[in-house]
Amino acid sequence: MSQTPRVQVLLEPDWASDSLAADVRRGLSTYPRTLPPRWLYDDRGSALFDEITRLPEYYPFTAERSILEAHADEIAAASGATSLIELGSGTSEKSRILLDAFTRTGQLTRFAPVDVAEGTLRQAADEIAARHPGVEVVAVVADFTLHLAHLPSGGRRMVAFLGGTIGNLYREERAAFLGALADVLEPGDSVLLGTDLVKSADRLIAAYDDAQGVTEEFIRNSLVVVNRELGADFDPAAFSYVPFWDPHMERMDLRLRAEVPQQVTIPGADLVLDLAMGEEIRIEISTKFRVSRIAEELEAAGLPVSRVWTDAAGDFALTLATRT
Ligand code: SAH
Ligand code: TRP
Repeated sequence: MSQTPRVQVLLEPDWASDSLAADVRRGLSTYPRTLPPRWLYDDRGSALFDEITRLPEYYPFTAERSILEAHADEIAAASGATSLIELGSGTSEKSRILLDAFTRTGQLTRFAPVDVAEGTLRQAADEIAARHPGVEVVAVVADFTLHLAHLPSGGRRMVAFLGGTIGNLYREERAAFLGALADVLEPGDSVLLGTDLVKSADRLIAAYDDAQGVTEEFIRNSLVVVNRELGADFDPAAFSYVPFWDPHMERMDLRLRAEVPQQVTIPGADLVLDLAMGEEIRIEISTKFRVSRIAEELEAAGLPVSRVWTDAAGDFALTLATRT
């Protein structure tokens, strides 16, 4: 008989509107104007992201999946984990490969996916509980920048953070995040980190500017979220999508540009925004890494690297680091 997953909600009831208001006030009133990325994943955003993962141009998904397919058994053995926690799990599509490997050896007692997108998370947890009846599934509705200290504890844990999501954080945010993660782990616990690697600008731009315009729609949806949650009057059609590669910072920079001068009122954030023609709002960054830099950042946080796997083309890396 399959179990019903336990669901733990760590987000406050008004988390979305309160923390969105604070983020929007801070981000949109300083330069460059920014919006924080977790606002991309409402139900529509989660569905669009799922579509992105199936685009031929979006190589990171296939690359990371191929590494997991080739090495999941080794990863399970190397981590020795009995409890798998997945941050920013979304549909947990790729982690199902890990789950199969961890249950083949019989070592896994618990799986805890963690995401702010509650609907997507609940559905994934239900499916996984049905497929792995011997594993306790605990779905945690939480913000991985705030709630690491409250993750399920006990057993030897491996925290998977896949999809290159760490690259959506700025360098200082990554350091704070990895430091906080190291703080809550016990010696012997590990982190499995998925990172996209630096490659030719052409391929990078194609991955974030697909022919069907799904990524553009995903980025534009952030304005729809602000309209809905904070009563704003952004006209998404008045913006064009501007994705570019920043070779100095080694990251994709995904922006929306005001095509006409406009005034936007955001009552929920107490903000009136005057945008000149051509003014840009940065919606997301996606940092690309070199293997040496991943190790540096992990080690600086007290998480020395034990193994690194890449796909055959060298497009993507999975790094296992173990808390000492
Ligand atoms: N891990 C999946 C999904 C990556 S998309 C994959 O590799 O395909 C990023 C996921 O992180 C989304 O599901 C989004 O809802 C979640 N997310 C973004 N910011 C978050 C935050 N601060 N706390 C928790 N989840 C977050
Ligand atoms: N973290 C993944 C990446 O940076 C997925 C993602 C986040 C994404 N934001 C995005 C993909 C915006 C396309 C567009 O690639």
